[in-house]
Amino acid sequence: MKTIQEGRAGIKAYTAETVSKELPVFYNPVMKLNRDISVLLLNSIEKKNMQIALPLAATGIRGIRFLLELKKGKIKYISFNDNSNDAVKLIKSNLKLNKIKPGKKVNISNLDANLFILNSKGFDYIDIDPFGSPNFLLDSAIKRLAREGILAVTATDTGALCGSYKNACLRKYSGKPLRNEFCHETGLRILVSKVQSVGAQYDKALTPIFSYSKEHYFRVFFICVKGKKKVDKLMKNIDYIVYCSSCLFRETAKGIFNSNKCPVCGLRLDYAGPLWLGRLWDKKLITKMCKNINVLENKKLVKLLEIIKKESKINSVGFYDVAQVVKHNKLKNVPKKDLLIKGIKKSGFKAAETHIRPNSIRSDITIKELIKIIKKINQ
Ligand SMILES: C[S@@+](CC[C@H](N)C(=O)[O-])C[C@H]1O[C@@H](n2cnc3c(N)ncnc32)[C@H](O)[C@@H]1O
Repeated sequence: MKTIQEGRAGIKAYTAETVSKELPVFYNPVMKLNRDISVLLLNSIEKKNMQIALPLAATGIRGIRFLLELKKGKIKYISFNDNSNDAVKLIKSNLKLNKIKPGKKVNISNLDANLFILNSKGFDYIDIDPFGSPNFLLDSAIKRLAREGILAVTATDTGALCGSYKNACLRKYSGKPLRNEFCHETGLRILVSKVQSVGAQYDKALTPIFSYSKEHYFRVFFICVKGKKKVDKLMKNIDYIVYCSSCLFRETAKGIFNSNKCPVCGLRLDYAGPLWLGRLWDKKLITKMCKNINVLENKKLVKLLEIIKKESKINSVGFYDVAQVVKHNKLKNVPKKDLLIKGIKKSGFKAAETHIRPNSIRSDITIKELIKIIKKINQ
């Protein structure tokens, strides 16, 4: 066992180079960013006196960080749970190590996560952070999520969501993925619509307030609003996107889906979905998160947030991998990213880098217009 310092928490845990379900409870350093964002987000929303559930608490690191790093008045109590006896022992000893006593504000249980959630009276924040798919906990978590509650969902089964295993995606997420340059975005959006469709069953509208794709996982924070009308409005944003793998044309389905032919190059269109076509971020929340972040302490997160802040202002589905656009459309050179963004903006469209893929641009521009601008830069 190693002593690990993360944020203000110091814990003892096993560490592992390669993470897998078979390992005993261990600390995963790659997920530090995931926990950093959770702390920052909870400190940036208005909510106070929160009842927090960590149904898959593992070493307890996330909850200990919440207790040590969330602003005063934020937490009513935190419930740690894990079905592994070893995890529960570790949570108890790690709480002790951080001088936190179980009591009114902290409780620990050793149950199956679904039983733990369903046995409760409900929570204002539930964090689903599993190995693989979060599906097995969505139903119970959404049932017990309070009005205006926040649901945080991690999915590490990107192989399914990004189209390496198309059938697994159809089976688990009821959506057809795409295996293309923006498959991480379609995957993220399929995950969002899956969570929303579970919410819809209980008249709960789950709107994403912060989403990202990083390394091997997706993460989405949703706010829950109760009401049939809210759900109906939200569900209107679940649809398909069509895509041409030849010229890289893409369009949200509305109308064009039936034609089956790319209007730019005439070849057959592919599609993804149903998936969420609405916004992935709450712009005001990102501004607050950018204000609250400790710039010196967390450079990696600052960089990620800066990119997301800009891309959140563009309501487009998918983005353009510039090198791919050049290659597929037989253009001369790949223009510099900054130069291209400037050119797109000059033509009256929005454009920004995307956090999802390097050298790629989120924009509301069409492929036709983009090709024109690249040609002009290439002259
Ligand atoms: C990826 S780890 C969780 C990491 C943790 N959330 C964090 O922030 O670092 C998954 C944990 O879920 C636990 N687990 C898996 N299936 C479970 C179930 N059905 N009920 C309760 N715990 C479960 C495992 O024992 C493991 O500790």
